[in-house]
Amino acid sequence: MKIRVYQLAKELGVPSKQLVEELKKLGVDIVSYQSTVDEETADLLRELLKAEPLQVAESGKESKVESTEEETVTAEAGKSEKELAPKRPPVVTVMGHVDHGKTTLLDAIRRTRVAEREVGGITQSIGASVVNYKGQKIVFIDTPGHEAFTEMRARGAMVTDIVVLVVAADEGVMPQTIEALNHAKAAGVAIIVALNKMDRPGANPDRVMNQLAAMGLIPESWGGDTIYVPVSAIKGEGIEDLLEAIILIADLLDLRGDPEAPLKAYVIESRLDKGKGPLATVVVREGTLRVGDFVVVGTTYGKIRAMFDDKGDPISSAGPSMPAEIMGIQDVPEAGTLVQRVDSLEEAERIAKSNSDLQRDKQQKTRKEFSLEEILSSS
Ligand code: GTP
Ligand code: MG
Repeated sequence: MKIRVYQLAKELGVPSKQLVEELKKLGVDIVSYQSTVDEETADLLRELLKAEPLQVAESGKESKVESTEEETVTAEAGKSEKELAPKRPPVVTVMGHVDHGKTTLLDAIRRTRVAEREVGGITQSIGASVVNYKGQKIVFIDTPGHEAFTEMRARGAMVTDIVVLVVAADEGVMPQTIEALNHAKAAGVAIIVALNKMDRPGANPDRVMNQLAAMGLIPESWGGDTIYVPVSAIKGEGIEDLLEAIILIADLLDLRGDPEAPLKAYVIESRLDKGKGPLATVVVREGTLRVGDFVVVGTTYGKIRAMFDDKGDPISSAGPSMPAEIMGIQDVPEAGTLVQRVDSLEEAERIAKSNSDLQRDKQQKTRKEFSLEEILSSS
């Protein structure tokens, strides 16, 4: 008898995501928490975890730099820290081939009209937005589908919990559909397929399901574990079903984030604004980012002078899963960079400087190695 990873995770009292990691470490070939494992593997894990209970990952491990007292207490209570941390909203990244309707789908969800205003009708940057659905927050990240933006798709997949893979049901699987799927698989995140443009006469959802099933996304209706949701972004049809699927999966993933933990946030996008100076859009993983914080962002640093939410309104803090645009850093950081909080501006400057020295050394080293090679090959 096969058992789904999330069911096993629930039974064992560990987060699904972590169990997926553990299984992968053991060399078990699985894709997500929705994958199944056989009875033997399940038994092996039960035995292993009995012998050596899992240290709950990420936030749990991080906090060892802070107080160890709490850890002892939670260990005594037989609960992991992650279980005690509050739930956090899912971060959902929308990916797929160019023009398959990602932005229009988000417009339908948000009741906005962003797609219409885009230059040439294509998305050229990553954008985060927060949606309230039945009292629950969902954080969405839109990504470009144009083939030139591979990097952005890879980064989008990195900060996310769930990928909504948008496939136009009339056009079917295209090169960037496959690319996006590979990023999602590499990041080990849950995947929901949105079969878009169902209103089109040529829509053929079965064909898409066949194509994607061949790549491991077997639909639930065929006994697999991937949810496919037919939608029409233009007509606003199927949107509820998609949101329900997201909530369902987010619940299964049991996403938690401690707002009191040491700050861990990532830059997803940055730009230079004429009036405001360097700006970075970040997504908080753990901890809370606040106006007035001293931060190191890779090779740059600063004191956060202001923060803005997804609507551009000023905010004073952002907790786990929340996106925020921050103002006050010295330079435009690279997307993907970790944001860390420190105690003073001096410390921030020192760390940023040492980061940039390190980076320069690395570059010089590669250059040296290169020239050495050149010398050898030319001699
Ligand atoms: P990129 O961000 O450039 O990758 O494109 P995208 O995936 O965000 O696509 P976008 O939302 O910009 O939509 C592309 C075109 O498809 C637009 O002309 C939309 O109006 C159209 N479109 C999107 N969804 C639907 C749909 O459900 N039905 C129909 N008929 N057209 C749609
Ligand atoms: Mg778009």
